Amino acid sequence: MPNITAQELRNKYLNFFKSKNHTIIPSASLVPENDSSVLFTTAGMHPLVPYLLGQQHPGGTRVTDVQKCIRTGDIEEVGDNTHLTFFEMLGNWSFGDYFKKEAITWSFEFLTGKENLNIPLERLAVSVFAGDNDAPRDEEAAAIWKSLGVAEDRIAYLPKADNWWIAGTTGPCGPDTEMFYWIDDGTPAPKNFQETKEDKRWVEIWNDVFMQFEKHEDGTLTPLPKPNVDTGMGLDRTLAVLNGQTSVYDTELFKPMFDVLAMDQEIMTNDEVKKARIILDHIRAAVFIVSDGVEPSNKDRGYVLRRLLRRAMVMGRLLNLKLHWLKALVGQVIFAYAESYPDLTAKSEQIFATIEGEQKKFESTLEKGLKQLESRIKSQESGISGTDAFDLYQTYGFPKELTKELAVQSGQVFDAEKEKEYETEFKKHQELSRTASAGQFKGGLASHSDKIVRLHTATHLMNAALRKVLGTDVWQKGSNITEERTRFDFTHNQKMTDEEKKQVEDLVNGWVQRDLTVKKEIMPYEEARKLEAIGVFGEKYAETVSVYTVFDPNTNEVVSREFCGGPHVEHTGVIGKFKIQKEEASSAGVRRIKAVIE
Ligand code: ALA
Repeated sequence: MPNITAQELRNKYLNFFKSKNHTIIPSASLVPENDSSVLFTTAGMHPLVPYLLGQQHPGGTRVTDVQKCIRTGDIEEVGDNTHLTFFEMLGNWSFGDYFKKEAITWSFEFLTGKENLNIPLERLAVSVFAGDNDAPRDEEAAAIWKSLGVAEDRIAYLPKADNWWIAGTTGPCGPDTEMFYWIDDGTPAPKNFQETKEDKRWVEIWNDVFMQFEKHEDGTLTPLPKPNVDTGMGLDRTLAVLNGQTSVYDTELFKPMFDVLAMDQEIMTNDEVKKARIILDHIRAAVFIVSDGVEPSNKDRGYVLRRLLRRAMVMGRLLNLKLHWLKALVGQVIFAYAESYPDLTAKSEQIFATIEGEQKKFESTLEKGLKQLESRIKSQESGISGTDAFDLYQTYGFPKELTKELAVQSGQVFDAEKEKEYETEFKKHQELSRTASAGQFKGGLASHSDKIVRLHTATHLMNAALRKVLGTDVWQKGSNITEERTRFDFTHNQKMTDEEKKQVEDLVNGWVQRDLTVKKEIMPYEEARKLEAIGVFGEKYAETVSVYTVFDPNTNEVVSREFCGGPHVEHTGVIGKFKIQKEEASSAGVRRIKAVIE
């Protein structure tokens, strides 16, 4: 029996911070809403950026949550003991409320308290910011740790590369203090942390970020109106260390998934274990990504999903996994997370269908592609070329990263020159253009530009208009707004006629012309429901929510009322002329509109 299960850890964390007057809020989607600068939610702080920059959060100034995250930046490391592409981050936030003293004291209390995680002090070490031109050495954080009983030797002072946090390249940021656990392998933890911090047995489990600054495009830092706290504790890592396991893949979350593969870890080579771990990681991530409405494709998020699925399938083929392993594994992931994420069960049919659909697409060519790849690897002294890699992508759907990986595994080089050659080929193919080639995150968080804010309010109006024209079976399934356009997915069973599109445009433009007022209110969820506020279908909302209403100040007629964090324009007159550019199928029963404002 484990000392603590994943669900117990989630509950312990949330309840601990609830007892410190934090509001528990639900995880946001993995697909960032209204932020086109990143493909996925990469940290707990990501969906909370507007509040870190000063907007009022409906939950108040202290919130806590378990946030789903995707990071593919370290995809090459996946399969070692600690790296994952999908993970859950436990977090507590102060929006201009408490700061270093409370944050560190509570971290210490949660880590070491008998009724909490009960971690012995000998196994803990911390790091703090060493100081540079931007901010001073964090003697304050170190002094707080010492006052709680952490030995001086167990405090390391590290530079920005280690102890400074920012999501991407601009936005809220500041120094942080990280907490490390010495894993139990029979060796006592070394006394001095600064000298031993590179030892892999020190595992980072928690990070308290003291967000005091906003970093701008030109690299300058300005102080935030009020300092915030952003913390992140990795659920899988913490679970592993608390249960005396050396790897995240040994936890109760992954163990049953390993069993599905019917492989005996005892007799597997290291290489086989790594391949199996990659499969488990990637399929778990894929299940969550699909559950948040992403379909495999050759662009952006869809490409990341496709790459994860296809990489897992190739690994499965290389390990000679038996028929139906993928379906069984998807089922196990859904089962393991059913309690914490009930939407997985609700959407299981769609998840199975999407992943199996991608498997079918890839299966027929996988075998051929692998043979082709092998023969090209053998026949060419200089190894596989960039053009070969592109051909394999074009013909067999082998993501470049995969071809590169398999080539490198066979002792070949896939250098910058070949990358370039691949890119050149790639660019020739117009429809596979733009971001797909990297299949990685673009850094940086969106600034809420004027255009994006106007499009955001236009999207609310469009949602209201669609419900008027097509009926109240229309529910938002997702939206994504860039500088150029708004993209809106909604439930509806048939193609819209030209007449319907025109009616929606006319309604929206009529509301724009009437220069209606846009009002934000924070209220209990139940009250918002009574006011018939609408939201994203299937989304969980916190107890207190923020609601945007668009109404006529003369007659009080309400045109739109939605659950939403904003930001929005103050009155509709500034939006501009609204136009639907495209209406098409997105998935079964879901349509997609792309619309612009001029
Ligand atoms: N934002 C911090 C992190 O992701 C807590 O590590």
